[in-house]
Amino acid sequence: MDKPMGFYVLTLFPEMIQKGCDNSILKRAMAQDHIRIQAINIRDYSGNRHGKVDDYTYGGGAGMLMQAQPVYDAWRDVVDHISQEKTDISEPSAKRVRTIYVTPKGEPFTQKMAKELAKEEELIFLCGHYEGIDERVLEEIVTDRVSIGDYVLTGGELPAMVMIDAISRLVPGVLGSEESAETETFENELLEYPQYSRPEVWHGKAVPEVLLSGDHKRIEEWRRIESERLTEKVRPDLFERYCRRQKVISALMRHKKENAYMIDSLMRDMADILYADENVVAAVHRVTRVVMLCLDSPEEFEKLQPFLPEDCHLILHNCEALAPILEEKLGMKAGDACYQSVYTQKNSLSVAYKNIGLFPASKLDYAVENYGGESEREYLKDRIENKELFAAFEGDRIIGFAGSHAGGSLGILYVDPEYRRSNVGSSLACYLVNLALDRGGLPYAHIRVSNEASLKMQEKMGLYLGKKKIFWMYKKEN
Ligand code: ADE
Repeated sequence: MDKPMGFYVLTLFPEMIQKGCDNSILKRAMAQDHIRIQAINIRDYSGNRHGKVDDYTYGGGAGMLMQAQPVYDAWRDVVDHISQEKTDISEPSAKRVRTIYVTPKGEPFTQKMAKELAKEEELIFLCGHYEGIDERVLEEIVTDRVSIGDYVLTGGELPAMVMIDAISRLVPGVLGSEESAETETFENELLEYPQYSRPEVWHGKAVPEVLLSGDHKRIEEWRRIESERLTEKVRPDLFERYCRRQKVISALMRHKKENAYMIDSLMRDMADILYADENVVAAVHRVTRVVMLCLDSPEEFEKLQPFLPEDCHLILHNCEALAPILEEKLGMKAGDACYQSVYTQKNSLSVAYKNIGLFPASKLDYAVENYGGESEREYLKDRIENKELFAAFEGDRIIGFAGSHAGGSLGILYVDPEYRRSNVGSSLACYLVNLALDRGGLPYAHIRVSNEASLKMQEKMGLYLGKKKIFWMYKKEN
């Protein structure tokens, strides 16, 4: 099993954290070793026999401030403990541990931030009290300042617990199968639709008829409409963003096969729109940070350039004539040109070879040997950890595998030579198409223009090739 995610809370009230987290799902997650929560009493580091950790503020003003030294010493102890554990299991610990200062003066905490933080192996939370903490220690140890909302609480313990709760439920294994973390409020920029349980009629109110119909299409449609209605009413800010995204998706859909890379990541809410008008769309993928551009002529680039992120290391675009401009203006160099193959239907494909499941982490070496070698080890490990790589089995033996790339395209296909004339390869590909459909995306793959065998196979499987090429461009190494 994976190493548990470690939460360390630096606080003057450790009991509050211990008692607050020792219930329900978090309690079970700790018992099953998916997460560990440890509260560290800053007062234990006061160096003063009265356990004093606060003092007056320079320059005057009401209230006391937490002093730098005890906070620093408590933090240092935790960091040393973490790196000690890492060396014990012979893992390099070069990365700095994220240290979150919970404060009303911080960046707002969101579901998106929870998702990002859930990828860390450990997090340190620093809870303030009184009027806050001496700025000098914050400058030295804090990586993120985060607020849970525009109101002021008496201390940082409740905000830290709120964040630990929201992050923990995204850690693999913490939620049981019936407590899915997907398709919920904020997953799709919309608030979740209303839900009903038994009895069918309560206080004279009946459950909406459609939910009893068993017609999944109608139910899905009803839920979407209710979600939109609710979001528009109580969160017009979210609704406006959602409508903008839907408008951009509809415009891109006019050339589905050419714009699949953008449509898919926007449909799955994996990308942020940087700029959009009638002729141009620029978006950035949240995980890979790949910038995606859709434009008819290179002249359009000028208007979207100011919206591009500074860390633009990879651009995917559909306009051949743009290449020299990106070279000149952003120091990019041309990489592969690809065709896109897109599955344009809504119905799932039938998967002939049935014995397909998640690729086992213990078989990473097999994947490395058969897909790209050592240089791909970390990437393949990441794909396995993200449950994006699937294997076809014969008994216990792996006879092929396929997965989705971090950007969402289907790929990483390998089939054991013995099975290349069987239905294993196409079954793996169909399996991935169905998975992408289930996730509400547009299944697509990128195939290098020179890879004729693969181009032929796509069409055989019922995927359509776009007519226009798309181009990858990379930042030049200095
Ligand atoms: N400490 C006090 N109020 C807070 C808030 N709203 N968010 C985070 N930390 C806090």
